[in-house]
Amino acid sequence: MTAGGGGSAVAGGPAPHIPVLGRPALDFLNVKDGGVYIDATFGAGGYTRALLAAANCKVIAIDRDPQAIALGRELAAANQRLTLVEDRFSNLAQIARAAGHATVDGVVLDLGVSSMQLDTAQRGFSFRLEGPLDMRMGATGASAADVIAAASERDLADIIFQLGEERHSRSVARAIVKARAASPIATTAALADIVASVVRARPSDIHPATRTFQALRIFVNDELGELARALAGSERILKGGGRLVVVSFHSLEDRIVKTFLAARAAGRGGSRHAPEVRHAAPSFRILTKRPVTADEEEVAQNPRARSAKLRAAERTEAPAHAGNPSDLLPRLPALADVLRGR
Ligand SMILES: C[S@@+](CC[C@H](N)C(=O)[O-])C[C@H]1O[C@@H](n2cnc3c(N)ncnc32)[C@H](O)[C@@H]1O
Repeated sequence: MTAGGGGSAVAGGPAPHIPVLGRPALDFLNVKDGGVYIDATFGAGGYTRALLAAANCKVIAIDRDPQAIALGRELAAANQRLTLVEDRFSNLAQIARAAGHATVDGVVLDLGVSSMQLDTAQRGFSFRLEGPLDMRMGATGASAADVIAAASERDLADIIFQLGEERHSRSVARAIVKARAASPIATTAALADIVASVVRARPSDIHPATRTFQALRIFVNDELGELARALAGSERILKGGGRLVVVSFHSLEDRIVKTFLAARAAGRGGSRHAPEVRHAAPSFRILTKRPVTADEEEVAQNPRARSAKLRAAERTEAPAHAGNPSDLLPRLPALADVLRGR
């Protein structure tokens, strides 16, 4: 995650980017000369630059956002050790193999949106900036406006409750359905106003639309599904002794990382569909008994670092476990079904 509070678009472009927990992330990756590392969330390239500077290593950097990739082209052209790929990080194992690496020494995921995305009004991520209700990190697929236009009231309420942890999800869903019957909800400001009309907040609280926007963003980008598949992919592609580092920004993400690592480190199968796969040897050794958080100095410089949690683990020599990544996810309808307004 990044600097910038989702608010201030700086004159002349999005806010500058400060990587969160960059130092501990790099330390846990244990970067070595000759090593191969996957930066699964290239963003503005903060982690990638630090990796390339830390040792004579190779970096495969991935981002699903074509704008992030375009801004990284110059860095990739100037550095033979960097391979930059526009793709989803759920494909990270295939991407590494296609780049000629059967195994890698480290994988780092710095989850969420970048300040470049958040502070560009046209991307539609921020309720503080008027823009189209888009929220897609990549260039394709349904937008938040598509979901808002088509989803049933029940699906909207479930999405907002499960992915936004919004207590007033039913009122918000009801207000959305009522408003869209009058006219399409096409902008961030329109949705923020609808939410604010039913979720009361004291001036000291977070903006009343925060949780609804988070839920839609996670749903539109399948962020939790992507994370679960990326963890399973990392387990497959990391060599024995290789490191996995994940920086997450809310409890839904952190719970998935924690549950995944606990199951892999305890040597359980981790799948309720395959209860016979019980006593597989541990495929990870957890390096962070408690998650690492930002210190006061970092939080003072970058308020968003406050919610960051870093977990790290080392791959053992044991085979990858058989668990199904979707077992880690909350139960929600698929995007295609939601768009059909079932
Ligand atoms: C918080 S930023 C990363 C910032 C980066 N560590 C830096 O130092 O500049 C997260 C980035 O991950 C990308 N991202 C999020 N989910 C993704 C996914 N499933 N596949 C590929 N990229 C993803 C976003 O587009 C965004 O650019």
